[in-house]
Amino acid sequence: MCGIYGYIKASSEKKALETCLDGLQKLQYRGYDSAGVAAIHNGSILSFKTVGKVDLLTSLVKESPKELSAAIAHTRWATHGRVSSANTHPQIDYKESLALVHNGIIENYLEVKKRLESKGVTFSSETDTEVCANLISYYYDGDMLSALTRAFADINGSFAIVLMHKDFPETIYASARGCPLAIGICEISGDVYISSDSSSFSESSYSTYFLQDNEIAKVDGKTLTIYDDQAKEKKISLSPLTITENETLKDGYEHFMLKEIHEQKGLIERILHKRKKQNSFYYRELEDDKDLLNQVQHIEIIACGSSYHAGLIAKEFLEQETRIPVSVHLGSQYRYAKHLDKANTLAIIISQSGETADTLAALESRKEHFLLTIALCNVENSTLTRKADRFIPLMAKKEVSVCSTKAFTAQLLNLYLLGIHLANALGASCEKFTKELLSLPLCIESVYSKEKEIASFAKEYSSFPYFFFVGRGQMYPVCLEAALKLKEISYLPAEALPAGEMKHGPIALIDEKLATIAFLTKGEIAAKTISNLSEIRARNGRILTFGGNNHEVTKDQITFETDSLETFLTIPYSIAGQIFSYYLAKELDREIDFPRNLAKSVTVE
Ligand code: G6P
Repeated sequence: MCGIYGYIKASSEKKALETCLDGLQKLQYRGYDSAGVAAIHNGSILSFKTVGKVDLLTSLVKESPKELSAAIAHTRWATHGRVSSANTHPQIDYKESLALVHNGIIENYLEVKKRLESKGVTFSSETDTEVCANLISYYYDGDMLSALTRAFADINGSFAIVLMHKDFPETIYASARGCPLAIGICEISGDVYISSDSSSFSESSYSTYFLQDNEIAKVDGKTLTIYDDQAKEKKISLSPLTITENETLKDGYEHFMLKEIHEQKGLIERILHKRKKQNSFYYRELEDDKDLLNQVQHIEIIACGSSYHAGLIAKEFLEQETRIPVSVHLGSQYRYAKHLDKANTLAIIISQSGETADTLAALESRKEHFLLTIALCNVENSTLTRKADRFIPLMAKKEVSVCSTKAFTAQLLNLYLLGIHLANALGASCEKFTKELLSLPLCIESVYSKEKEIASFAKEYSSFPYFFFVGRGQMYPVCLEAALKLKEISYLPAEALPAGEMKHGPIALIDEKLATIAFLTKGEIAAKTISNLSEIRARNGRILTFGGNNHEVTKDQITFETDSLETFLTIPYSIAGQIFSYYLAKELDREIDFPRNLAKSVTVE
């Protein structure tokens, strides 16, 4: 799971290595364990590698030869082999003739490695990528296409691969199977860009091609040729793509996460405004689907991570308003599960990035069984938006922090509004929700107004080694998301629990070292949660509550002005959870925007 970049200059003034580094910066959301870049110089491979982020590469590359016009680069999220210089890409083959970068997993790499070792091939890394480089090199006898087709026939798994060989200093070869790879030819300069994500191309207009599974691309100067897996040339058509870069800055905030937390009020206003139609909400993207929507008998939501939590939270609302059964699935589980063939299923696929391998594979595995597939996604031109029948943009704008905040909120709000659209299409009225939804921005303001208070509790609670997040009903999936946030950026263990389940086991963990964060709603359900909290209190557990009024179970209470909300309390409470996790991680001096071991887009299984 990594970011791949390649570049060949035609007529611009750009320098190949530097251009690749700029591209890598934009791909770091795919991993930031180590980074490297390579080119061919004076007939041999020139490469620079570093453990850590792309910034560290920049100073190394400063000393590089200036005349290079083609290069390839990589930012890594370690899968096979530790985070080390030896395991950093580009991987160089045993003959030191080619440099190769790879995203994905070669599943049979050990078997291939053994076979190559028995023929005298030597290895210097622990990666599956080096196996690939050596295999191609082993087969290479002057005909690169033949070496590539033979090598790719031997390997199982998923990959996007880009490579350069010292015999062709200005040619880049690329291939993909189950991993995205885009090739863009700049309409002004003719420069060619290759990337895991087309949005990382420089600002300009491009003729673009997204590699299909098992195709091989040869980029020679500005000429792009595509071959099938038998090395037979294919006719392809290029599609236009315009990249407008909006540089993302922290705007005075210490971290992108905090900035993105604060963007949520504006985001909610934007989505409500865009989707509001008369006294309800409407998606023009589904304008032509009224007949199809009328046939829907089941809804399946598929997603991973925070996107999955958004689905879990919205499930009850969708079911209640559409009267259609809804099931929510993790992409990684869904693709290998046994399924009942349910007729007329609408699939809603949720993904911030649109590149999560498990989510994409889940969609792919059952696509033909679905009546209609709708992608809720933040990235236009992602693999998901190309694969689904319809695309609903989240409108969250670029999310930089690895830990999702505003994209999650956009997913949740869009799911609620989509529920209203579906219910309306089925003849039900949801006007009763309009007033409540329109009051959301003010309620979010009320959460922001408690930021200092939340920060001060977060500071106090940062000495606890273990956390429970508890809530009932809709607050339970809100707790799942809040616990995930805390784990991601503070590295502390946190468990989400339905308050009523405490007594069935988890209560055994409670002592004075355990902190409980509770999300209280209103009425009877809050009273029941408070009873559960009393049980924690009686066992010396410390408790902080968000929301709810007039309870005596703990002095640590934060309340918000959310009286206008009932159904959609999930949104401000989720934001309060984000703020709490942010300040707690800050107190522990964690690397908040780029937490250890994580990546923003997980492109391997
Ligand atoms: C990674 C990210 C999470 C995200 C999940 C799903 O684990 O760190 O923040 O929720 O992937 O990503 P997606 O892009 O499909 O929403």
